[in-house]
Amino acid sequence: MKKQIHLNGFIQNSPSPHSTGLWKYKEDQGTEHNQLTYWINAAKTLERGKFDALFIADVLGTYSVYGNSHDSAVKHAVQLPAHDPITPIAAMAAATEYLGFAPTISTTYAQPYSLARQLSTLDHLTGGRLAWNVVTSYLESEAVNLGLSGRLPKEIRYDRADEFLEVVYKLWEYSWEVDAVVHDKKNDTFADPAKVHTINHEGEFFKVPGPHLVEPSLQQTPVLFQAGASPKGRDFAAKHAEAVFTKNHSLEALKSYTADIRRRTKQQGRDPHNVLIFPMILPIIGSTEEEAHAKLHELTNHVSYEGTASLLSGHTGIDFSAYDPDQYLQDMDTDAVQGNLDMYTKDPNKKWTLREAIKNHGLGNGTVKFIGTPEQIADQIEQWAFEGDADGFNIAQAYSPGTFTEFVDHVVPELQKRGIYRKEYEGETLRENMFGKGRRHLPEDHPARKLGLIQPT
Ligand SMILES: Cc1cc2nc3c(=O)[nH]c(=O)nc-3n(C[C@H](O)[C@H](O)[C@H](O)COP(=O)(O)O)c2cc1C
Repeated sequence: MKKQIHLNGFIQNSPSPHSTGLWKYKEDQGTEHNQLTYWINAAKTLERGKFDALFIADVLGTYSVYGNSHDSAVKHAVQLPAHDPITPIAAMAAATEYLGFAPTISTTYAQPYSLARQLSTLDHLTGGRLAWNVVTSYLESEAVNLGLSGRLPKEIRYDRADEFLEVVYKLWEYSWEVDAVVHDKKNDTFADPAKVHTINHEGEFFKVPGPHLVEPSLQQTPVLFQAGASPKGRDFAAKHAEAVFTKNHSLEALKSYTADIRRRTKQQGRDPHNVLIFPMILPIIGSTEEEAHAKLHELTNHVSYEGTASLLSGHTGIDFSAYDPDQYLQDMDTDAVQGNLDMYTKDPNKKWTLREAIKNHGLGNGTVKFIGTPEQIADQIEQWAFEGDADGFNIAQAYSPGTFTEFVDHVVPELQKRGIYRKEYEGETLRENMFGKGRRHLPEDHPARKLGLIQPT
């Protein structure tokens, strides 16, 4: 059997979140993100296309690095309004059977005890279809609104994230033994107290005695997604993640990323293929190549320059309002999103001016565009999957949910015809659909499995 690729849809609870200014495009329905029908339609479309999951990005603050103000973000809807990523999931789960859901939640601002409860509840309600995109957050505006005097340094954010995961693993994997709930009416016992344990976690950032508030869900630990690009972020992903997301311009950049992630995963004592790698792509589909390029031109005309400058300033932590649009971008370390800066400063094929970077960043958050007929897009997907060692793709949208619909209607059948994409879901839980039937729980080589510390109650 040929290697099978996986697909996720990339969305956010904002109008045109990843293609800045495209809310103005005639086919975009992103302004309806405040209605359940928008979410249910998107979820049903992705399930029709046999996608693994809907990946819901999120930020907890405004983009206000550009000109030291949120005005451009307000005017151009730069991931603003930013509605909650978790709330639509239960409704989407009720309208689908197999599609997974991966909300983004920040370990910098959440508390492990309450988040573990929330995600366990959703894993129950979705029948084991939940993932969590673990982020550490990058905006100063998030920090100051959530009780900190400023953004924590990246090192500390990742240290906190590492301990955060240790706490939730203890709650999800060890606090309740899987057979603790007995529903024994005759002996007046709902659950066996001998099988529900405190975790007594005491660390640098958290003190959580437990026990967990929720009985074990189908997957126990939801599938763990991550997208760190800095060395510390990659090590974190290699240690904890079951799927990583990346943005690349070129096949060469992807090859070096995948080799590096596989190497780091192995160093952590894990099977390198227990971390699935998903580059993000923006498909621009036409019935002819010319039509696709004409569409790219039309979409690019809807991109907001100022809005994208604000987005890129937030992503990189650099205020571009004072920059000459024709100056080249300089390589540097950032405490914001390293990967977004690297795309424009470490590209071996091109030196990027700010103007060029903004033009590129405005569609699909700057990720690679696969442009052409469904067959041509399938060719590129095959090349990136086979030569680039990608396990799947994260599909961004130029306009929502139209990009998903076109991809599902035109590219998915082509991938199926080539024998590299499923025609039916293999399992019931998300982890099974990503890794194979029977894999409901984290594998033995995952660090959560090695904690092994059930405390006496
Ligand atoms: C495809 C992709 C999606 C991401 N989505 C989010 C997101 O929704 N929210 C967020 O705070 N960070 C998001 N990030 C940022 C990373 O998760 C990470 O926190 C950030 O890149 C900073 O760490 P780094 O410098 O190690 O990359 C995303 C990154 C990528 C590549």
